[in-house]
Amino acid sequence: MTRPIILTGDRTTGPLHIGHYAGSLRNRLRFQDSHEQFLLLADTQALTDNAHAPGRVRDSVIEVALDYLAVGIDPEKSTICLQSHLPALAELSMLYLNFVTVARLERNPTIKDEIHARGFGRDIPAGFLCYPAAQAADITAFKATVVPVGEDQAPLIEQTNEIARRINAVAGRNILPQARAVIPRSGRLPGVDGKAKMSKSGGNAIALSASPDTISAAVKAMFTDPNHLRVENPGKVEGNVVFNYLDAFDEDRATLDELKARYRRGGLGDSAIKRRLEDILQALIGPIREKRAALARDPAHVIEMIRRGTEKARCRTDATRREIVEGLGLFML
Ligand code: TRP
Repeated sequence: MTRPIILTGDRTTGPLHIGHYAGSLRNRLRFQDSHEQFLLLADTQALTDNAHAPGRVRDSVIEVALDYLAVGIDPEKSTICLQSHLPALAELSMLYLNFVTVARLERNPTIKDEIHARGFGRDIPAGFLCYPAAQAADITAFKATVVPVGEDQAPLIEQTNEIARRINAVAGRNILPQARAVIPRSGRLPGVDGKAKMSKSGGNAIALSASPDTISAAVKAMFTDPNHLRVENPGKVEGNVVFNYLDAFDEDRATLDELKARYRRGGLGDSAIKRRLEDILQALIGPIREKRAALARDPAHVIEMIRRGTEKARCRTDATRREIVEGLGLFML
């Protein structure tokens, strides 16, 4: 039996953080034995809002690849590949732009949020506005049916499916499968400052390569319940970042439920829950940081792995591109 195909990836704008881990890396680890998994180092997508900093986009390719390997992605099981070196993805992106309207692109909630958060207004780079079509190209070129992503990416998968249905309709047969987003139950991890989104650019993230001191300082500064001034006061669990993180990373659910009840009743201090969270994060990140540092000593090995993965992905994506061009009834040479 052939295994279902996964395609997912990350923009290469810097090292990944624990939000990525809770949001999708953890699911990818779970899937690598049961699925045929491709992970895309999305450097061309990173350029859609980083055209002024191509050097950072380039350097981050290795950073993200190191993060993948350090958390336990096994290149023998999962194929890690580089977006800019898969020409079929760019070609399909251009084709797909004819199957989507500007109005639809502007309505995409992910794009809308990001335009707002970055203050682009009308001066949005055209590549940024169109990246849902490019992401549709990424997903469909691999004929992926499963896409593990953070919840902010769900509208992009919807739009991918719309484009795939249009292509199939014009071709008169089902060339492209529909894809399903796999989103973690714990929801999006907020920043350590309580802002809705953890992001490196927002300075409110904990990197997967963070030092013990950085982790400790981040947890100590973490936003809790501003009205919980004394240990004996009742506290709020909702909107309390420490509990958001415990929800994502504490495996002892029974104890966590008890702690929440005690915190709500009063009698449990912020320092106690922070200590618990810090222990959990140090235990999670410590081995990742060490493995990452060891791998970083041999970048040539990492580059070779990306090269091999990209070659494998190229065969796959070229074949789909040809099938689509043929299916649409364009002239074939
Ligand atoms: N948009 C994703 C991010 O911002 C990266 C990405 C590019 C992606 N292509 C993809 C994710 C295809 C899933 C599927 O990190």
